Amino acid sequence: MKNIAVIGVGYVGLVTGTCFADMGNRVICVDVNEDRIANLRQGILPIYEPGLEEMVRRNVNAGRLFFTTSYQDALNDPEARADMVFVAVGTPEGVDGEADLRYVRAVAETVAEIVDHPVIIVNKSTVPVGTGDWVADIVSHKQPNAVPFSVVSNPEFLREGSAIADFLNPDRIILGSLDRSAAEAIAQLYIPLRAPIMVTDLRTAEMIKYASNAFLATKISFINEIANICEALGADVKEVAVGMGYDKRIGRAFLDAGLGYGGSCFPKDVSALTHMANVQGKHPQMLEAVMQINADQRRSVMLKARELCGDLNGKTIGILGLAFKPNTDDIRDSPGIDLARMFQEQGAAVKAFDPVAMPNTARILKDVKLCADSYETVEGCDVVILATEWNEFKNINLIRVKNLMRLPIFIDGRNLYDPAMMYELGFIYRGLGRGYGKPVANGHKGQAAGATQAWGDWNATANNKGK
Ligand SMILES: NC(=O)c1ccc[n+]([C@@H]2O[C@H](COP(=O)([O-])OP(=O)(O)OC[C@H]3O[C@@H](n4cnc5c(N)ncnc54)[C@H](O)[C@@H]3O)[C@@H](O)[C@H]2O)c1
Repeated sequence: MKNIAVIGVGYVGLVTGTCFADMGNRVICVDVNEDRIANLRQGILPIYEPGLEEMVRRNVNAGRLFFTTSYQDALNDPEARADMVFVAVGTPEGVDGEADLRYVRAVAETVAEIVDHPVIIVNKSTVPVGTGDWVADIVSHKQPNAVPFSVVSNPEFLREGSAIADFLNPDRIILGSLDRSAAEAIAQLYIPLRAPIMVTDLRTAEMIKYASNAFLATKISFINEIANICEALGADVKEVAVGMGYDKRIGRAFLDAGLGYGGSCFPKDVSALTHMANVQGKHPQMLEAVMQINADQRRSVMLKARELCGDLNGKTIGILGLAFKPNTDDIRDSPGIDLARMFQEQGAAVKAFDPVAMPNTARILKDVKLCADSYETVEGCDVVILATEWNEFKNINLIRVKNLMRLPIFIDGRNLYDPAMMYELGFIYRGLGRGYGKPVANGHKGQAAGATQAWGDWNATANNKGK
């Protein structure tokens, strides 16, 4: 059993602290946000993460998990002095794309001023290469009395929406330090997880995190580029991805064409890595392209809508899904939010719904009608866009959706639905890169059901309706 302090109680800090407590350690989590800590003490979590609320409650009740705003209590409790301090504060995107390290700096200064015993400072936040050395520098300069300490980089790879499972079943644990014994002490903590543990130097560990996220973002932009080519040539990117994925060298993961990556990590991490490279006089051409393709992907949906229903001014657009991905209420850099703004700029009225991200959305999106459910959202819409592939959208009553819409234009930003089925239901449907449809029994006869159905075709059908 170790005494652990976790600084910053957001996604990473709360999951890290709770999981370490669940593994039998005594964990105290500290945050400067007083409301957040007051709520946590009453069992109210600041984030939506499946399974976390119950796990927090269990460990609080077992007397292993505590929440405080006091660094003094978190670090120097005479009965449970923290030997390891995990830093999990935010590192948002700053000006010019670099990581904003103000919270990391504040933590380093406060720990230096307060801690009164030897400690290992473990950085879980995603920080630019060289930050570990910088933190060590700040701590040694700010300490009132020299207290031994070490700095370890331990980047986190959990995904929101499956954070507990990811934390407890990691593909690997990366530990970087100039002090091997400190890295090995942290490695001990992770041994129960039976994952490969790699010990390396501080800068290499920091780079592993950026390189991993940049690679995953690259896979997403790659398949989106392929989707755009598929769309022009009549191939179906969904099947292309399946076919590619059988190759073990490629793998199926992160080959889903759609609205591109979003959230609190990939966008800022690709930007930060690009910035690091530029500062060093390197020219990160591929990273630049990855970011450009990602931005274009969102715009392409708006252009599709315009192509299908003309001027968007005065039209009503429904957006299904505002979280940047399912099973989270995180809307940071979310495609759904971006699209709402883009359509508003075009003069359209926007309605939207998300199963869990409505409170977060209400705080930042003005003049968007936030609806009680999917059906209220689509009612009277000229265009509906599926932006997040929540499970509940998979089983939506599409006939009801179509009947509620003013025009049945449906843009599937996550390629969730079968194009043939959508055409059959009478939608003017567009996925991203879905080609001309699957082979039919009589082969090449005529036009396969699919992407070439145009606004004019629908208009003709609509006009014939009453006859
Ligand atoms: N969210 C993810 O899925 C994820 C995954 C892997 C890595 N990361 C990285 O982990 C880090 C944290 O991300 P997050 O999403 O958990 O952030 P978050 O914004 O959800 O939480 C950060 C918390 O730190 C607190 N904080 C800020 N300054 C503080 C200070 N001086 N002392 C104590 N608390 C302070 C904030 O109040 C907030 O509660 C980032 O570097 C991020 O890139 C995030």
